[in-house]
Amino acid sequence: MKLNVRKVTKQFGTKAAVDNISFDVEGAQFVGIIGRSGAGKSTYLRMMNRLTDATAGEIFVDGVDVLSLKGKDKRDWQSQCAMVFQQFNLVPRLDVVSNVLHGLLGRRSTLASVLNLWSSEDITRAIEILDRLGIAEQAAKRAEALSGGQQQRVAIARALMQDPKIILADEPIASLDPMNAQVVMDTLKRINVEDGRLVIANLHTLDTARRYCDRVIGMRDGRIVFDGTPEQLTLGVARDIYGADETFTESATSTELSSLAPDREYAAAMLSD
Ligand SMILES: Nc1ncnc2c1ncn2[C@@H]1O[C@H](COP(=O)(O)OP(=O)(O)O)[C@@H](O)[C@H]1O
Ligand SMILES: [Mg+2]
Repeated sequence: MKLNVRKVTKQFGTKAAVDNISFDVEGAQFVGIIGRSGAGKSTYLRMMNRLTDATAGEIFVDGVDVLSLKGKDKRDWQSQCAMVFQQFNLVPRLDVVSNVLHGLLGRRSTLASVLNLWSSEDITRAIEILDRLGIAEQAAKRAEALSGGQQQRVAIARALMQDPKIILADEPIASLDPMNAQVVMDTLKRINVEDGRLVIANLHTLDTARRYCDRVIGMRDGRIVFDGTPEQLTLGVARDIYGADETFTESATSTELSSLAPDREYAAAMLSD
Protein backbone atom coordinates (compact mmCIF):
# COMPACT_ATOMS: atom_id res chain seq x y z
CA MET A 1 0.00 0.00 0.00
CA LYS A 2 1.10 3.51 -0.82
CA LEU A 3 -0.04 6.61 1.02
CA ASN A 4 0.93 9.98 -0.43
CA VAL A 5 -0.24 13.04 1.47
CA ARG A 6 0.15 16.20 -0.58
CA LYS A 7 -0.08 19.74 0.80
CA VAL A 8 -3.12 19.06 2.96
CA THR A 9 -4.57 22.05 4.77
CA LYS A 10 -7.56 22.54 7.04
CA GLN A 11 -8.55 26.09 7.74
CA PHE A 12 -10.95 27.03 10.55
CA GLY A 13 -11.66 30.69 9.85
CA THR A 14 -8.26 32.34 9.73
CA LYS A 15 -6.57 29.55 11.68
CA ALA A 16 -4.86 26.67 9.85
CA ALA A 17 -5.43 23.65 12.12
CA VAL A 18 -3.44 21.59 9.60
CA ASP A 19 -1.05 23.68 7.56
CA ASN A 20 0.17 22.36 4.22
CA ILE A 21 1.40 18.93 5.34
CA SER A 22 2.92 16.29 3.07
CA PHE A 23 4.30 12.84 3.81
CA ASP A 24 4.52 9.39 2.25
CA VAL A 25 4.08 5.93 3.69
CA GLU A 26 5.02 2.78 1.85
CA GLY A 27 3.70 -0.55 3.11
CA ALA A 28 1.83 -1.48 6.25
CA GLN A 29 3.77 0.56 8.77
CA PHE A 30 2.83 1.56 12.29
CA VAL A 31 2.89 5.35 12.12
CA GLY A 32 2.61 7.49 15.23
CA ILE A 33 1.64 11.16 15.16
CA ILE A 34 2.73 13.10 18.24
CA GLY A 35 2.45 16.70 19.34
CA ARG A 36 0.84 18.74 22.03
CA SER A 37 -2.87 19.42 22.31
CA GLY A 38 -4.07 21.59 19.43
CA ALA A 39 -1.23 20.59 17.05
CA GLY A 40 -3.72 19.32 14.45
CA LYS A 41 -3.42 15.55 14.95
CA SER A 42 -7.14 14.79 15.21
CA THR A 43 -8.01 17.15 12.38
CA TYR A 44 -5.62 15.26 10.09
CA LEU A 45 -7.17 11.86 10.90
CA ARG A 46 -10.68 13.27 10.50
CA MET A 47 -9.84 14.59 7.04
CA MET A 48 -8.32 11.29 6.01
CA ASN A 49 -11.47 9.42 7.10
CA ARG A 50 -13.62 12.13 5.46
CA LEU A 51 -15.35 13.05 8.70
CA THR A 52 -14.39 16.60 7.80
CA ASP A 53 -13.45 18.14 4.46
CA ALA A 54 -9.95 19.41 3.79
CA THR A 55 -9.58 23.02 2.66
CA ALA A 56 -6.84 22.04 0.19
CA GLY A 57 -4.57 19.17 -0.80
CA GLU A 58 -4.79 15.52 -1.76
CA ILE A 59 -4.42 12.21 0.03
CA PHE A 60 -3.57 9.46 -2.44
CA VAL A 61 -4.08 5.86 -1.36
CA ASP A 62 -2.69 3.53 -4.01
CA GLY A 63 -2.95 6.39 -6.46
CA VAL A 64 -6.56 7.38 -5.72
CA ASP A 65 -7.23 10.79 -4.15
CA VAL A 66 -9.56 9.78 -1.34
CA LEU A 67 -10.36 13.43 -0.55
CA SER A 68 -12.17 13.76 -3.88
CA LEU A 69 -14.39 10.67 -3.50
CA LYS A 70 -18.16 11.16 -3.40
CA GLY A 71 -21.28 9.15 -2.58
CA LYS A 72 -20.79 5.39 -2.50
CA ASP A 73 -17.06 5.66 -3.27
CA LYS A 74 -16.65 7.91 -0.25
CA ARG A 75 -18.57 5.50 2.00
CA ASP A 76 -16.51 2.56 0.68
CA TRP A 77 -13.36 4.46 1.51
CA GLN A 78 -14.65 5.22 5.02
CA SER A 79 -15.13 1.52 5.65
CA GLN A 80 -11.61 0.88 4.29
CA CYS A 81 -10.09 3.17 6.92
CA ALA A 82 -11.69 2.45 10.27
CA MET A 83 -11.49 4.89 13.17
CA VAL A 84 -10.75 4.10 16.80
CA PHE A 85 -11.38 6.90 19.30
CA GLN A 86 -10.11 7.87 22.74
CA GLN A 87 -13.58 7.49 24.24
CA PHE A 88 -14.28 4.16 22.44
CA ASN A 89 -17.62 5.44 21.03
CA LEU A 90 -19.48 2.22 21.79
CA VAL A 91 -23.22 2.03 22.46
CA PRO A 92 -22.97 1.59 26.26
CA ARG A 93 -26.25 -0.25 26.90
CA LEU A 94 -25.89 -2.55 23.92
CA ASP A 95 -24.20 -5.94 24.21
CA VAL A 96 -20.62 -6.39 23.02
CA VAL A 97 -21.38 -8.54 19.93
CA SER A 98 -23.95 -6.04 18.67
CA ASN A 99 -21.42 -3.25 19.11
CA VAL A 100 -18.94 -5.22 17.00
CA LEU A 101 -21.60 -5.93 14.35
CA HIS A 102 -22.15 -2.18 14.10
CA GLY A 103 -18.87 -2.15 12.18
CA LEU A 104 -20.93 -3.45 9.25
CA LEU A 105 -23.45 -0.61 9.31
CA GLY A 106 -21.87 1.23 6.41
CA ARG A 107 -22.36 -1.82 4.24
CA ARG A 108 -25.97 -2.77 4.94
CA SER A 109 -29.41 -1.40 4.28
CA THR A 110 -30.81 0.90 6.94
CA LEU A 111 -33.84 -1.35 7.47
CA ALA A 112 -31.78 -4.48 8.11
CA SER A 113 -29.63 -2.46 10.51
CA VAL A 114 -32.55 -1.02 12.43
CA LEU A 115 -34.08 -4.46 12.84
CA ASN A 116 -30.71 -5.92 13.91
CA LEU A 117 -30.98 -8.55 11.18
CA TRP A 118 -27.50 -9.94 11.33
CA SER A 119 -26.68 -13.11 9.44
CA SER A 120 -25.32 -16.05 11.41
CA GLU A 121 -22.07 -15.72 9.41
CA ASP A 122 -21.75 -12.11 10.58
CA ILE A 123 -22.33 -13.12 14.20
CA THR A 124 -19.83 -15.97 13.96
CA ARG A 125 -17.25 -13.61 12.53
CA ALA A 126 -17.84 -11.02 15.23
CA ILE A 127 -17.27 -13.65 17.91
CA GLU A 128 -14.14 -14.92 16.13
CA ILE A 129 -12.72 -11.42 16.14
CA LEU A 130 -13.56 -10.98 19.84
CA ASP A 131 -11.90 -14.33 20.51
CA ARG A 132 -8.77 -13.23 18.67
CA LEU A 133 -8.60 -10.11 20.84
CA GLY A 134 -9.06 -12.18 24.00
CA ILE A 135 -12.51 -10.91 24.98
CA ALA A 136 -14.94 -13.51 23.55
CA GLU A 137 -16.20 -14.34 27.06
CA GLN A 138 -17.50 -10.75 27.31
CA ALA A 139 -19.61 -11.10 24.13
CA ALA A 140 -23.05 -11.13 25.79
CA LYS A 141 -22.36 -8.37 28.32
CA ARG A 142 -23.35 -4.77 27.92
CA ALA A 143 -20.44 -2.69 26.68
CA GLU A 144 -20.70 -0.39 29.71
CA ALA A 145 -19.98 -3.33 32.04
CA LEU A 146 -16.46 -3.77 30.64
CA SER A 147 -13.22 -2.12 31.75
CA GLY A 148 -11.83 0.70 29.63
CA GLY A 149 -9.18 -1.54 28.12
CA GLN A 150 -11.77 -4.17 27.22
CA GLN A 151 -14.06 -1.52 25.72
CA GLN A 152 -11.25 -0.25 23.54
CA ARG A 153 -10.62 -3.81 22.33
CA VAL A 154 -14.33 -4.05 21.47
CA ALA A 155 -13.92 -0.83 19.47
CA ILE A 156 -10.94 -2.38 17.67
CA ALA A 157 -13.02 -5.52 17.00
CA ARG A 158 -15.76 -3.30 15.53
CA ALA A 159 -13.14 -1.70 13.30
CA LEU A 160 -11.87 -5.14 12.19
CA MET A 161 -15.41 -6.18 11.31
CA GLN A 162 -15.08 -3.73 8.40
CA ASP A 163 -11.90 -5.55 7.30
CA PRO A 164 -10.18 -2.20 6.72
CA LYS A 165 -6.86 -1.60 4.96
CA ILE A 166 -6.08 1.15 7.41
CA ILE A 167 -6.80 1.75 11.08
CA LEU A 168 -6.82 5.37 12.25
CA ALA A 169 -6.57 5.58 16.03
CA ASP A 170 -7.05 8.95 17.73
CA GLU A 171 -5.33 8.80 21.14
CA PRO A 172 -6.53 5.21 21.68
CA ILE A 173 -4.93 4.88 25.12
CA ALA A 174 -5.31 8.39 26.52
CA SER A 175 -8.16 7.31 28.82
CA LEU A 176 -6.54 4.07 29.99
CA ASP A 177 -4.28 3.11 32.88
CA PRO A 178 -0.75 1.94 31.92
CA MET A 179 -1.59 -1.78 32.01
CA ASN A 180 -4.67 -1.49 29.80
CA ALA A 181 -2.81 0.97 27.58
CA GLN A 182 -0.20 -1.70 26.91
CA VAL A 183 -2.80 -4.36 26.07
CA VAL A 184 -4.52 -2.02 23.61
CA MET A 185 -1.24 -0.97 21.96
CA ASP A 186 -0.18 -4.64 21.71
CA THR A 187 -3.52 -5.35 20.03
CA LEU A 188 -3.02 -2.58 17.46
CA LYS A 189 0.51 -3.82 16.81
CA ARG A 190 -0.75 -7.37 16.18
CA ILE A 191 -3.31 -6.14 13.68
CA ASN A 192 -0.55 -4.18 12.00
CA VAL A 193 2.02 -7.00 11.84
CA GLU A 194 -0.17 -10.10 11.46
CA ASP A 195 -2.77 -8.67 9.08
CA GLY A 196 -0.60 -6.15 7.26
CA ARG A 197 -2.95 -3.24 7.98
CA LEU A 198 -1.49 0.26 8.05
CA VAL A 199 -2.00 1.84 11.46
CA ILE A 200 -1.83 5.59 11.99
CA ALA A 201 -2.18 6.46 15.66
CA ASN A 202 -2.22 9.86 17.35
CA LEU A 203 -0.33 9.31 20.57
CA HIS A 204 0.12 11.65 23.48
CA THR A 205 3.15 10.00 25.04
CA LEU A 206 6.70 9.65 23.77
CA ASP A 207 7.48 6.30 25.35
CA THR A 208 4.51 4.68 23.56
CA ALA A 209 5.49 6.21 20.23
CA ARG A 210 9.05 4.93 20.63
CA ARG A 211 8.01 1.47 21.65
CA TYR A 212 5.36 0.69 19.03
CA CYS A 213 5.97 2.83 15.95
CA ASP A 214 8.10 2.18 12.87
CA ARG A 215 7.80 5.82 12.04
CA VAL A 216 6.96 8.92 14.04
CA ILE A 217 5.58 12.20 12.70
CA GLY A 218 5.79 15.20 15.00
CA MET A 219 3.29 18.02 14.54
CA ARG A 220 3.43 21.53 15.93
CA ASP A 221 0.96 24.32 15.10
CA GLY A 222 -0.48 22.35 12.18
CA ARG A 223 2.89 21.63 10.58
CA ILE A 224 5.12 18.58 10.44
CA VAL A 225 8.28 19.43 12.39
CA PHE A 226 9.68 15.89 12.63
CA ASP A 227 9.40 12.78 10.46
CA GLY A 228 11.66 9.88 11.30
CA THR A 229 12.30 6.68 13.21
CA PRO A 230 11.87 6.26 16.97
CA GLU A 231 15.69 6.23 17.24
CA GLN A 232 15.85 9.69 15.69
CA LEU A 233 13.31 10.99 18.20
CA THR A 234 15.83 12.37 20.69
CA LEU A 235 14.98 14.44 23.74
CA GLY A 236 16.03 17.59 21.88
CA VAL A 237 13.73 16.76 18.96
CA ALA A 238 10.88 16.00 21.39
CA ARG A 239 11.37 19.40 23.07
CA ASP A 240 11.06 21.05 19.70
CA ILE A 241 7.88 19.12 18.82
CA TYR A 242 6.27 19.97 22.15
CA GLY A 243 7.53 23.55 22.09
CA ALA A 244 9.10 23.07 25.50
CA ASP A 245 12.32 24.37 27.08
CA GLU A 246 15.17 22.57 28.94
CA THR A 247 12.89 21.78 31.89
CA PHE A 248 11.00 19.36 29.64
CA THR A 249 11.83 15.72 30.42
CA GLU A 250 10.91 12.35 28.98
CA SER A 251 8.64 11.53 31.88
CA ALA A 252 6.56 14.62 31.15
CA THR A 253 4.99 12.69 28.28
CA SER A 254 5.16 9.18 29.66
CA THR A 255 2.25 6.74 29.89
CA GLU A 256 3.49 5.62 33.33
CA LEU A 257 1.64 8.50 34.97
CA SER A 258 1.31 6.68 38.27
CA SER A 259 5.08 6.72 38.78
CA LEU A 260 5.41 10.45 38.23
CA ALA A 261 6.14 13.08 40.83
CA PRO A 262 3.33 15.67 41.25
CA ASP A 263 5.05 18.37 39.19
CA ARG A 264 5.61 15.91 36.36
CA GLU A 265 1.97 14.92 36.47
CA TYR A 266 1.09 18.54 36.05
CA ALA A 267 3.40 18.80 33.05
CA ALA A 268 1.84 15.68 31.52
CA ALA A 269 -1.64 17.09 32.07
CA MET A 270 -0.58 20.28 30.32
CA LEU A 271 0.70 18.36 27.32
CA SER A 272 -2.15 15.90 26.87
CA ASP A 273 -5.68 16.55 25.72
N1 LIG B 1 -14.43 22.26 14.56
C1 LIG B 1 -13.47 23.17 14.83
N2 LIG B 1 -13.71 24.48 14.72
C2 LIG B 1 -12.75 25.40 14.97
N3 LIG B 1 -11.49 25.08 15.35
C3 LIG B 1 -11.19 23.78 15.48
C4 LIG B 1 -12.15 22.75 15.22
N4 LIG B 1 -11.57 21.54 15.43
C5 LIG B 1 -10.29 21.81 15.80
N5 LIG B 1 -10.06 23.13 15.83
C6 LIG B 1 -8.79 23.79 16.16
O1 LIG B 1 -7.80 23.25 15.33
C7 LIG B 1 -6.59 23.08 16.05
C8 LIG B 1 -6.14 21.63 15.96
O2 LIG B 1 -7.04 20.83 16.71
P1 LIG B 1 -6.91 19.25 16.81
O3 LIG B 1 -6.77 18.69 15.45
O4 LIG B 1 -8.04 18.78 17.63
O5 LIG B 1 -5.53 19.09 17.59
P2 LIG B 1 -4.95 17.83 18.38
O6 LIG B 1 -5.74 16.63 18.01
O7 LIG B 1 -3.51 17.75 17.97
O8 LIG B 1 -5.08 18.17 19.84
C9 LIG B 1 -6.84 23.57 17.46
O9 LIG B 1 -6.42 24.90 17.55
C10 LIG B 1 -8.34 23.49 17.58
O10 LIG B 1 -8.81 24.43 18.49
MG1 LIG C 1 -6.78 15.35 19.24
